[in-house]
Amino acid sequence: MRTETPQPIRLTDYRPPAFRIDTTELVFDLAPNATRVKARLSITRNGEHTEPLVLNGERLRPISVAVDGKVLDESERTIDAEYLTVPNVPDSFVLETEVEIDPEANKALDGLYMSGGRFCTQCEAEGFRKITWFADRPDVLSRFTVRVEADKAFHRLLSNGNLMESGVMPGGRHYAVWNDPFPKPAYLFALVAGELDELADKLVTMSGRAVDLKIYVDPGMSDRAAYAMDALKRSMKWDEEVFGREYDLDLFMIVAVRDFNFGAMENKGLNIFNSSLLLADPATATDLDYERIESVVAHEYFHNWTGDRITCRDWFQLCLKEGLTVFRDQSFSADMRGEAVQRIKDVKTLRARQFSEDQGPLAHPVRPGSYLKIDNFYTATIYEKGAEVIRMLKTLIGDEKFREGMDLYFDRWDGHATTVEEFIRCFADVTGEDLTEFFAWYEQAGTPNLSLKHSYDADARTLKIDLTQATAPTPGQPTKRPLPLPVRIGLLDGEGRTQAFLRDGTALDETVVVLNGASTSVTFTGVESAPVVSALRGFSAPVTLETDAQPKDRYVQLAGDPDLFNRWEAGQDLARALISSRAAGRPDEVGEERYAEALGRGLADQAADPAFKALLLALPSEADLAMAMKPADPAAIHEAREALRTRLALHLEDDLKRLHIGLQELGEFSPDAASAGRRALRNAALDLLAANPRAEIATLADGHYRAAINMTDAMGGLNALMLLGGEAFDAALADFYERWKSEPLVIDKWFSLQGRDPSDGALGRVMGLTAHPAFDQKNPNRLRALVSGFATGNPARFHDPSGAGYRFLADIILVVDGFNPMTAARFVERLGGWRRYVPELGALMRAELQRIAATEGLSKNVYELATKALA
Ligand code: ARG
Ligand code: ZN
Repeated sequence: MRTETPQPIRLTDYRPPAFRIDTTELVFDLAPNATRVKARLSITRNGEHTEPLVLNGERLRPISVAVDGKVLDESERTIDAEYLTVPNVPDSFVLETEVEIDPEANKALDGLYMSGGRFCTQCEAEGFRKITWFADRPDVLSRFTVRVEADKAFHRLLSNGNLMESGVMPGGRHYAVWNDPFPKPAYLFALVAGELDELADKLVTMSGRAVDLKIYVDPGMSDRAAYAMDALKRSMKWDEEVFGREYDLDLFMIVAVRDFNFGAMENKGLNIFNSSLLLADPATATDLDYERIESVVAHEYFHNWTGDRITCRDWFQLCLKEGLTVFRDQSFSADMRGEAVQRIKDVKTLRARQFSEDQGPLAHPVRPGSYLKIDNFYTATIYEKGAEVIRMLKTLIGDEKFREGMDLYFDRWDGHATTVEEFIRCFADVTGEDLTEFFAWYEQAGTPNLSLKHSYDADARTLKIDLTQATAPTPGQPTKRPLPLPVRIGLLDGEGRTQAFLRDGTALDETVVVLNGASTSVTFTGVESAPVVSALRGFSAPVTLETDAQPKDRYVQLAGDPDLFNRWEAGQDLARALISSRAAGRPDEVGEERYAEALGRGLADQAADPAFKALLLALPSEADLAMAMKPADPAAIHEAREALRTRLALHLEDDLKRLHIGLQELGEFSPDAASAGRRALRNAALDLLAANPRAEIATLADGHYRAAINMTDAMGGLNALMLLGGEAFDAALADFYERWKSEPLVIDKWFSLQGRDPSDGALGRVMGLTAHPAFDQKNPNRLRALVSGFATGNPARFHDPSGAGYRFLADIILVVDGFNPMTAARFVERLGGWRRYVPELGALMRAELQRIAATEGLSKNVYELATKALA
């Protein structure tokens, strides 16, 4: 164990900065092993006090420190592992420092590091302190001027803002000077240097300004940036149209790098992307890749206003920019790809990642109150639940008031670092409403359980609906208060037609009932026949819903609920019930036949979107099912789910085969949503057919794989072959590797697929793959492909009764923690849910957490999560 327990940082301890840094001038003399960084900071005291100047700085080799031109000797300043402290500074002065750093040795990929022979940076949240001494906190905004000098072999020299000057220097070197006119916190600083190809385009903004758009990628790859460029232009126009937000610099750049701890980063004017979220062409990228590229390009671009122009006062406010920006990118994707399908996908992600987080020891509020390492709080709760909170706000106050409040927020806070309270205050101001109760969504962790009961009075034609909510305790929050819950409700008749009703005398097809407090009742009148209640339409609040609906009601919804989210959800609910019965040893065969028939009718519906049908066809995931089963038994879930799949495959075989033939693509590949939807449905049909393995199906899958002319179908075929197993799969895997071995992003898919292999011997093979020559634990994409593919995507094998899956994961965490704590820490949460599993498994998971927590020299990142997971 570590000797001193790290001390948490608390929101309640926030103090404004003691000093401001008005301007920041940096000079980088770049060399992979020894980069010199000179900083010239003009600093002013903030308020009346006599505190010393304290700047953050880690892993810096000090060269010199000077105040107003006078070099300080060791008695005049202190340097330790985390800070530079200078006592007795004037109220206003210039600090000049010089340090040396070693980007090549930086495998934590935080600060300045090398990727593929190029220099690049990642500074959010606290990476800038590994570059130079600075007030590395988001509420210190400074104007940056950056001079980059390097050998000419590092062809492109990029930083934030506008290029002011560039030229050659003696000794085969060159330089570029960048100025960013917008004051920004250090976490938005970026620098890139190296050989890169450029894809250039232009866009004229709504006020008629021309903006240069440039995407920089590995040499030879610029064709693969075309889709990202297209997505960028659509994002820029969308933000103008929907939020009235225009881009503000003359230049917007994106750089793709192969070694990156996260998805992407919104540095002002110079976004840096994980190449997996930027590069795409039909041969190497799947439709899911295209979809994610579109949404992440939009996400990072939207941050220009929600993140860069207006940033966070402190890191507890992270959701101020992240939840809001996820909400914005989800709205964009809905406009690009269809609202219902997008909503279903977003809710699937929310449930898989955030609901499971909320059920475990790492549950935390959208705005947490304390942390050891802020990097551990880039979570599904802050991002995805943060977006849900904004969506509810919009539902509660209406579209117009929402837009007014956003306008006020942009007006009032442009150029500042602010808080969630101030954000919400803007909406309170434009509506005149008291949003104090609503604010509890930010402070209370946990997923509320909403229960709905209805009673129909046929004589009076009235329907009474009772709503009740309760939230289970989470760590540190034993008692929970009720939250304002918007519940969107519509009624169907027995035939599935929309049934109008009266609420307070007004005729409606649909309404939002707001549950304020622990429970409420509403009565609708004029309800002509016994209704099927379609509740929580569009998933209007992030809750688990329990209703008194009977299977027959669900079938009515599945057949024709005009709210497509609820139509899909009805199918999922029916499937969940059938799988739990099987897992409990009580298969409901009649029910399964009925379900198969209903799915068949859904597939035959000519009016429905193929992308929607593909979602309809997929059963709830094993992780989703595990959340509903207490305690969870992953083996029983896997078996029961497979058994239902097999029955569906048997029952629907003809329909599925017809779809598989009928949807074969003849024309040229297009990544648009409609074409992607058809491919998704065809691959979903094949996936289901593979649940009833026979030689005939193996031939079909093999043919699908061999005939594929795009990566979506190649992966669809390979996946089906994996489910069928045997020699055909081995041959296809080998073929795939040979064909793609020089394409890292494709080989990531090859590792990930094998991580997800549910067959018996998979665990041994996954362990063996860590010795494969192409496996590289220093590259986060490659590492995550295999390890998350297995630990997240393969519950049946990860939860091996021997505990070997857990041991494998813990071993990886300990090794990776030695050089990349942020990436190592992200794997810890896989073990965090141990209390939810059957006791034999839970004990084994816990033992691995204990082994991790007891390891000497652990990073703060892993220490925090392992100890919290055990608490
Ligand atoms: N702000 C970036 C984004 O939303 C993510 C940065 C992640 N940083 C971290 N330390 N986890 O896209
Ligand atoms: Zn973000």
